[in-house]
Amino acid sequence: MTSQLRILGLETSCDETAAAVVTRLPDGTAVTDADVVLSQLDEHSAYGGVVPEIAARAHVEALDTLIEEALTRAGITLADVDAIAATSGPGLIGGLLVGLMTGKAMARASGKPLYAINHLEGHALTARLTDGVVFPYLMLLVSGGHTQLVLVKGVGDYERWGTTIDDALGEAFDKTAKLLGLPYPGGPAVERAAATGNAKRFAFPRPLVGEARLDFSFSGLKTAVRQAAEGIAPVSDQDIADICASFQRAISRTLMDRIGRGLQRFHETYPDAVEPALVVAGGVAANQEVRRTLDELCAQHRFRFVAPPHHLCTDNAVMIAWAGLERMALGMAPDDLNVAPRSRWPLDAGAQALLAYGKRGAKA
Ligand code: KG4
Ligand code: ZN
Repeated sequence: MTSQLRILGLETSCDETAAAVVTRLPDGTAVTDADVVLSQLDEHSAYGGVVPEIAARAHVEALDTLIEEALTRAGITLADVDAIAATSGPGLIGGLLVGLMTGKAMARASGKPLYAINHLEGHALTARLTDGVVFPYLMLLVSGGHTQLVLVKGVGDYERWGTTIDDALGEAFDKTAKLLGLPYPGGPAVERAAATGNAKRFAFPRPLVGEARLDFSFSGLKTAVRQAAEGIAPVSDQDIADICASFQRAISRTLMDRIGRGLQRFHETYPDAVEPALVVAGGVAANQEVRRTLDELCAQHRFRFVAPPHHLCTDNAVMIAWAGLERMALGMAPDDLNVAPRSRWPLDAGAQALLAYGKRGAKA
């Protein structure tokens, strides 16, 4: 049994600046001592997406204050933490530099070890903090920059089973919203509009449905939405609602097929797994129809469905601190202070890069 460990986590890979203090107790459970997140949404919304240069500057301006606030809320000083964990990829290089350099400077000044964390690992391990999920399990990451189905076998041991070959799911929501004149970020706006729409009005494509591979594709869906909207222009509020509802229906059906196959493959791979679990992460996990779909699928396939609270599904520093704690508790070596940020950093080093994978590349 390891002793109690406490880590200060930093997250700056995209458009959230975040700092957190998390303690791992000897029994492996965790206590969040502080969780501070500053969203840059307002700074980017006028541009309809994240502007890397604006993001990097905003991180520089906010991070020191956020760290102070996190330490104060936790009631500690830097001397009281056992290590510092900072996201070092994947993401926007400017933001990564800000967080990682800050982490390095604090580590050097305090003599504490530094863990350079893969942001995707943070998402992947969150469900162990919130729900004590045991290895192996499946993680579906659906955010603005990623759509991946990952087999989580252990800390640092991941197999990517599926990824998008073009747009990320959140990106498909954002682009659909944009072309319908709905505000950014598009996901919540599309979901709101869909609530009063007729999901059967438009038969949108369900890309890759029926294929054995577990990848995703959403750019054709976006094109179909554009064609539908152009075909009935000018669109009324009801048309928009119907398009959004039909779009969500297509996504739900696509996930049913893709993830359903993933769950089957998991059973084939681990026929003796005691408690198979599907863990969801990323901003799209907030979508009620997506959640309902995954919940139903899990019930059908005898999986436990784990959706951490929304603020831990989206970008945060608790997950970065926790990934550091998992590593430290296992005795994994901290990183050298020469470690460099990596804008691309797949969780599964063996996974083949797919065409256009990570095109937008920055967000996770
Ligand atoms: O994980 P996240 O907060 O940020 C990163 O991508 O890093 O995810 C943001 C994405 C955006 O594309 C946003 O439109 C989408 O999550 N999203 C949603 C909903 N809320 C946020 N998509 C569908 N339905 C929602 N309710
Ligand atoms: Zn993320």
